[in-house]
Amino acid sequence: MEQVVYRIRRFDGREAFWQEYSFGREPNKTVLWGLQKIKETLDPSLAFVAACRSAVCGACAVRVNGEAVLACETPLDALTGRFGDTLVLEPLGNFPVIRDLVVDWEPKAVRLAEAKPWLMPKDGFTAAAGCRQSQAEFRKINAQTNCILCGACASECNKLSAGDDDFYEPFVYTKAGKFVADSRDGSPGEHLRPALARGLWKCVHCQECVTKCPKRVAPAEDIAALRRASIRLGLADNQGTRHARAFADDIAATGRLNEITMAIKTDGLLKSATRLPYALRLLKCGKLNPFQFPAPVEGIDGVRRIVRAAKEAKE
Ligand code: FES
Repeated sequence: MEQVVYRIRRFDGREAFWQEYSFGREPNKTVLWGLQKIKETLDPSLAFVAACRSAVCGACAVRVNGEAVLACETPLDALTGRFGDTLVLEPLGNFPVIRDLVVDWEPKAVRLAEAKPWLMPKDGFTAAAGCRQSQAEFRKINAQTNCILCGACASECNKLSAGDDDFYEPFVYTKAGKFVADSRDGSPGEHLRPALARGLWKCVHCQECVTKCPKRVAPAEDIAALRRASIRLGLADNQGTRHARAFADDIAATGRLNEITMAIKTDGLLKSATRLPYALRLLKCGKLNPFQFPAPVEGIDGVRRIVRAAKEAKE
C-alpha cells in the first residue's frame, strides 16, 4: 500500500521536536483523517484539536507545508499531488503552542474582546421591536459573518510575525469591521478606537490573510474599510491618515511620491527633524535629492482621473 508521511512539529510542554509517522494512503481522505489515523493506530500521545469536522468550528486549523489550512476540509490527495508523499505539519504560526498542534487561544480572545465584537444597538431599538435590518444592509456584513475564528489569517500575517505589540490579529479587524458596518450598531467608534490604537494603519498589505482564509473572508479589505470609516467619523488625527492623505496628494499632483514632503506632512517638522541622520545617509547614497522636485509622470491626466474616481466612489 502506498504510504504517506506526516512530519509533525511536536511540543511536549518544554521543548519542540520533529517526529515522522508513516501510514497507508487511502483515496478521498482529509488531512484530519491522517491525524486521526496516527492517533488511533500509531501514537495516542499526539495532540491536535477538531470538533465539527465540517469546516464550521475552526478548531482544526494547522499549517501544512507552510500554509494554514482547515485539516478537516483539506483533501490529502490534493496536498500529496502538490508536495509529494511527505507533508510537514506544524501548529498555527503567531500563536503560543500548548502541546503539539494545539495552540492557545486565550491571549487572542483577550485581544479580540478589546475591539468589542458585539452589537451595541442604536437608540430606539427595543426588545419588542428587535434589531431589524434590510437585506441590503445585511449584505454589507454578510462576508464578515463567515469568519469562524480558525486563526488561519493570524497564522500567516506577516505584520503579526514581526511583533504583536502594534498590530491585532487580522480577524480582530474583521470582527470590528462587521459591527462598524452593521446598520443596527450605534457605537462604531467603540469598535474603531481600539483598532486605531493598535495598528489599523500598519497593515503591510501582503494579502496573506485574504489568500489563506478558508472561508473567503478578506481581513485586508476589512482593514481598508475600517480606515475609511475612521476618517468619516473624524478619527483622522493620526500618523496613518496623514500619511495616506499625503500619499494621495502626491499621486494626484505628479504621479510620484515626494519623500521629503511626505515625511513632513505625515510626522510634522519636529519629528521629521529627528530623522536627519537617516536623511543624510539617504542623501549620501543618492536616494534623496532635496533640490529635485518630481516632474509629473507621463499620462498624469489619466492618473488624476483614477484618483478622482476613487474619491467619488461610494462604499
Ligand atoms: S473540525 Fe471544525 S472546522 Fe475543522
